[in-house]
Amino acid sequence: MPTFMGLETAMSNDASDRMPRMPTYLVTGAAGFIGANYVHFLAEQEPDSLVIAVDYLGFASNLPNLDGAGERVVFEKADIADFPAMLELYKKHRPDYVVNFAAESHNDRAILDPSGFVRSNATGAQVMLECSRRVNVSSHVHVSTIEVYGELPPGQEWFDEASPLNAKTPYSAAKAAGDQLVRAYMHTYPEMNIRMTHCANNYGPYQLPEKLIPLMITNVLRGRKVPVYGDGLQMRDWLHVQDHCRDSRCAARRASAAVPGRSDRRVVVARLRHQRSARSDEHGHRSPGARRAE
Ligand SMILES: NC(=O)c1ccc[n+]([C@@H]2O[C@H](COP(=O)([O-])OP(=O)(O)OC[C@H]3O[C@@H](n4cnc5c(N)ncnc54)[C@H](O)[C@@H]3O)[C@@H](O)[C@H]2O)c1
Repeated sequence: MPTFMGLETAMSNDASDRMPRMPTYLVTGAAGFIGANYVHFLAEQEPDSLVIAVDYLGFASNLPNLDGAGERVVFEKADIADFPAMLELYKKHRPDYVVNFAAESHNDRAILDPSGFVRSNATGAQVMLECSRRVNVSSHVHVSTIEVYGELPPGQEWFDEASPLNAKTPYSAAKAAGDQLVRAYMHTYPEMNIRMTHCANNYGPYQLPEKLIPLMITNVLRGRKVPVYGDGLQMRDWLHVQDHCRDSRCAARRASAAVPGRSDRRVVVARLRHQRSARSDEHGHRSPGARRAE
């Protein structure tokens, strides 16, 4: 059953009954860190759009993250790896734009139990693509992570879309599997409008306290020691979550042409829609990459 964040009438009928029809976003992982920020961002930037916020309310989620998002946000509890449930949601809401943030994302938890990560990050990615194909959405954005590329070798400044996948953890391996499925859909169904992004570490509101920056801050405030990863010499790139949200919207809405990589924002946003005949499926926009992400 949907949870109403507001505007009950928007949910009382199928999407086809809405007159005039509002541009509709389907945002997954919406009760997590970046997804929640994205829902708020859309609500502010596009007050005339409808946002279907989907999450299965797993460990990393916090539904109150969506409080105050406004009357055009509708929450649906669903598992993106559950094909019948997701297809039903798609048919009900007929989204124009799909942005798939849903993933199991906590590296330490993946070491304890990798199987849930494969389900959300790989199977879930494929289920979302298949639903977007069947319902013929305007664009489908798959949110991946720079962590699929592993660590930068010495002397290399950044990753780009041609960098080889080199996942090192169950989390990033499952995300890399999702990437491969996304690329397979790009090639197999060139009529689909699929974009994929690879972003460095995000920081900002709604992040769980166990993540690096909130953990550092809360430890300092409590007079505790701050943890150091490895020998302390690792470097990471960081991106404010608002910048990620802005570029994810850009990736969803741009009608054609590649979204330029923005080195100052440290995010790779690549429009990766391809012809069957194309040899390479990357556009080569560059951005500094993370030495270690998330
Ligand atoms: N946090 C970062 O620094 C960062 C950087 C680059 C990319 N990313 C990517 O951005 C996305 C969002 O990351 P985040 O930090 O917000 O993660 P998060 O763990 O805070 O939130 C993920 C949300 O997805 C939901 N979810 C997981 N599996 C699901 C499923 N099968 N069905 C429905 N909902 C499901 C969870 O319940 C959670 O609310 C992920 O795909 C991640 O790989 C994150």
